Amino acid sequence: MRAARFHEYGGVENLVIEEAPHPHPRPGEIRVRVTAASVNPIDWKLRAGTLHQLTPLELPAIPGRDAAGVVDEIGDGVQGVGIGDRVFGLGGVTGATAELVVLSAWAHAPETWNDEQAAGAGLAAVTAMGGLNALGSLAGRTLLVEGAAGGVGGAAVEIAVAEGATVIGTASERNHEFLTSLGAVPTTYGPGLAQRLSVLAPRGVDIALDTAASGSLEDLVAITGNPTRVVTVADHAGGQRLGTHVVNAENNSTLLSVAAELGRQGRYTPRIEQAYPLERIADAHAHAERGRTRGKIVICI
Ligand SMILES: NC(=O)c1ccc[n+]([C@@H]2O[C@H](COP(=O)([O-])OP(=O)(O)OC[C@H]3O[C@@H](n4cnc5c(N)ncnc54)[C@H](OP(=O)(O)O)[C@@H]3O)[C@@H](O)[C@H]2O)c1
Repeated sequence: MRAARFHEYGGVENLVIEEAPHPHPRPGEIRVRVTAASVNPIDWKLRAGTLHQLTPLELPAIPGRDAAGVVDEIGDGVQGVGIGDRVFGLGGVTGATAELVVLSAWAHAPETWNDEQAAGAGLAAVTAMGGLNALGSLAGRTLLVEGAAGGVGGAAVEIAVAEGATVIGTASERNHEFLTSLGAVPTTYGPGLAQRLSVLAPRGVDIALDTAASGSLEDLVAITGNPTRVVTVADHAGGQRLGTHVVNAENNSTLLSVAAELGRQGRYTPRIEQAYPLERIADAHAHAERGRTRGKIVICI
């Protein structure tokens, strides 16, 4: 199969398109013929080697954690999905940017999403939902999403609005119209946030989700009044120091099914800033690495 791979840790110039061995599903897994794969910050961090002590990779490695496609092989014990079904989901920390990928968590892709949108939903949705679930009930509460224009933040806004929260999201001004389109009240991040929020939410902010890792976690604790009302998916050290919830993405098919159902209802639609062909994966990684992605970047296979 054709795949993007890197043989050594390093810059985007290490990414090559070449033939790679076909993967096969183990019990409980499925193999998918990929239509599109997503690009996430973890992909370029792993490729650059900055995480090699925490998450060592077997090289050469195929970047990509989540993808969408059509089921073409089914592992032992798998039920509820058949050959030819259109699904989206998560595999290992690598492996998705290829013609074939093995997934260990998946859901049927709603017809309301095109292939690119389905590819952009996996990791963003499980991370957003994992974070939101740590904060308890959302209905009737005011939620601040720090970093609301990114892949995880954007998903969190739509999902929290669907659950009945009033959502205030932070982004640079160029993304404020985008945040409004997701259902959030936009404001800028950085100095003076508490003051801006006191105008936007005079009765206070109940809970906060940090997806930005910008050093603002202490401010979010002060704004909500309690570290247990704050969750971060991005600033692990800060969260541990301050006693906030710290959440990591899980390969969870139930969460993916909930996201898909919201998609069917038109209440969650992954926003794709740009789709690159496989041959341009280096450009896609460089784009993601700039840290200014609006919604998701995906790679069409
Ligand atoms: N724990 C896990 O399992 C897990 C899973 C997925 C992701 N993550 C982590 O979560 C973070 C977000 O992931 P992602 O996929 O959403 O990233 P992303 O899409 O690359 O995020 C880009 C967004 O960040 C915003 N941003 C940049 N600086 C900001 C700041 N100082 N304050 C607020 N927003 C800022 C940008 O908005 P502007 O352009 O408007 O500034 C842009 O829209 C990353 O650190 C990622 O590694 C963790």
